[in-house]
Amino acid sequence: MTSPGRLELRVVTDKSELLRIMMAAWGSHRMMISLHVYDVAEIDALGLFEPDGSTAALASWTVRGETAYLCALHSLRPGEGAAIRMLDAVIFAARKAGAKKLKAMLTNDNMPGLTFYQRRGFRLSGVYLEAIDAYRSVVPTIIKTGYKDIPIHDAIELEIAL
Ligand SMILES: CC(C)(COP(=O)(O)OP(=O)(O)OC[C@H]1O[C@@H](n2cnc3c(N)ncnc32)[C@H](O)[C@@H]1OP(=O)(O)O)[C@@H](O)C(=O)NCCC(=O)NCCS
Repeated sequence: MTSPGRLELRVVTDKSELLRIMMAAWGSHRMMISLHVYDVAEIDALGLFEPDGSTAALASWTVRGETAYLCALHSLRPGEGAAIRMLDAVIFAARKAGAKKLKAMLTNDNMPGLTFYQRRGFRLSGVYLEAIDAYRSVVPTIIKTGYKDIPIHDAIELEIAL
């Protein structure tokens, strides 16, 4: 285990690992937030890397107007502080890009994600009932169950002021 302080933060240009993780965890590399679809292949990405080059965390984000959107946040070293540091890096980059708030989307099953974001000060900003069912009817590969096999139907949005 490496302390999060020793991880190296880099802009990610080769998004192949992130896209692979998205396909495995979500079934698509397109993410819907506020009913707008973002393709993780096309927007900005940041990563935290161990001294040996292996990946500790990856994030995908973009800005529209005064709102930044966190389209993916994946930790490959759970419980070691990598996601907290990754989120801090996205917040820093979003502020620098002029964003006034940061939004994230979680599916209804994602209790660890809900805990993670609310522990970091995010507040709920919207619940879109059956939004994932509707999205899955267009993109059938979207996963059907998630955390503890909970069926995935709805989108929960959270936001934090920057
Ligand atoms: C949600 C997710 C990003 C959290 O990642 P993580 O790396 O486990 O998160 P961190 O380690 O940074 O923080 C988790 C907890 O570990 C604690 N922690 C951090 N460093 C620690 C350490 N060295 N020792 C013990 N605990 C530590 C943190 O304080 C935090 O606890 P808290 O929330 O009670 O304060 C991760 O579960 C994940 O990748 N999920 C799948 C993708 C996903 O759902 N992403 C969110 C939607 S995009």
